[in-house]
Amino acid sequence: MEIPLTRRAALGALSSAPALALAGAERPIGPRPKRLLVLGGTRFLGPPIVRAALAAGWEVTLFNRGRSAPELFPDLELRKGDRNELDYASLSEGTWDAVIDTSAYVPAHVEAVARLLEGRVGSYCLVSALSVYDEAAAREDAPIDEGAPVLEPTEAMLRDTKRIQDVTGASYGPLKAACEDEVRAAFGDQSLVVRPGLIVGPEDSSDRFTYWPARIARGGEVLAPGPGTQGVQFIDVRDLGQWIFEAVAAGRTGTLNAVGFPTELTFAELLHGCKVVLGAEATFTWVDEEFLQAQEVGPWMELPLWIPGGGRTFALDRAIAAGLTFRPVGDTIRDTQAWQLESRDAERPWRAGLDPEKEARVLAAWHAR
Ligand SMILES: NC(=O)c1ccc[n+]([C@@H]2O[C@H](COP(=O)([O-])OP(=O)(O)OC[C@H]3O[C@@H](n4cnc5c(N)ncnc54)[C@H](OP(=O)(O)O)[C@@H]3O)[C@@H](O)[C@H]2O)c1
Repeated sequence: MEIPLTRRAALGALSSAPALALAGAERPIGPRPKRLLVLGGTRFLGPPIVRAALAAGWEVTLFNRGRSAPELFPDLELRKGDRNELDYASLSEGTWDAVIDTSAYVPAHVEAVARLLEGRVGSYCLVSALSVYDEAAAREDAPIDEGAPVLEPTEAMLRDTKRIQDVTGASYGPLKAACEDEVRAAFGDQSLVVRPGLIVGPEDSSDRFTYWPARIARGGEVLAPGPGTQGVQFIDVRDLGQWIFEAVAAGRTGTLNAVGFPTELTFAELLHGCKVVLGAEATFTWVDEEFLQAQEVGPWMELPLWIPGGGRTFALDRAIAAGLTFRPVGDTIRDTQAWQLESRDAERPWRAGLDPEKEARVLAAWHAR
């Protein structure tokens, strides 16, 4: 029969402790729960990671400034600090089985915390991004895999990027690659680097994916980027968060791309999927890329997910072999639209998507050509 541990005895050891019996024992429990430190945790990708860990019985400590959604996990231990100030004093004590870092953008921030935590955590998982790849240097005849060349930050990027807010569209990828190097330097074969593509779903404040369900649900003639056969890749934040936690819990290491899907999803399939799932009365007008560019319709943000010429695709074999699974796209469409209608801050201007007047103007010009 197993002799119960007390909670007090359970804390303090890094891995499952042997059974002990203490005089004056507190509430008896089994072997101590594993402990996870999340650097971040309270905006978009962090919450599903935290929820997955809690559901698996792990104890979770958060490190952040306490500004974003402080009401989300009121019962979790919060170590406060500001990465921009290299203020990690609250982490100077404690041991954790694993760290998951969702808020790393600047290599100096990572170097400081990795050095501070060395010897006190079992493994370090960094959430990086597919933006690290030097797409121009990657083989053109195959999806981009984890061995493809990555971008390097310039001296100026390293020098001028002190705070997360200083990161630009141009420096984001190279600096993420440099963050990866810091994690590997400190944690070696105990590091896991996850490179997600576009992350979508409920609570996405970027509005990029959300535009499409919202626009199609509104109905009428929808401007769509022709020809519709180009592939789109994204991942539901809930699938990604669950899998990142599971990969860490399973002790996975190395570098893994993380985006959908096992079989190609085209733009036309996505848009028609939105129409069907949402029961929308919409029609699609597929406008040539050259025409869109002549009308100064911007890619990716203004006409979300559109990449002129079609974007590169990314290899997923490793992630799938490491257990990554994908919910049906219809679920992501339906849940994102439900969140958008019920919970998205209606006062917040849309960050992505075509202005309705401009859409009507471009459609009229397309029909009149
Ligand atoms: N969205 C995408 O499509 C996409 C694609 C590829 C990769 N990614 C990567 O995925 C990750 C997703 O991030 P997320 O925002 O969803 O993560 P999150 O963990 O849900 O939220 C960000 C966390 O960082 C904390 N934070 C922000 N600034 C901080 C600072 N100066 N010091 C300490 N803590 C700070 C925030 O709390 P406080 O504000 O309270 O400090 C918050 O808890 C990022 O690493 C991103 O690069 C995203």
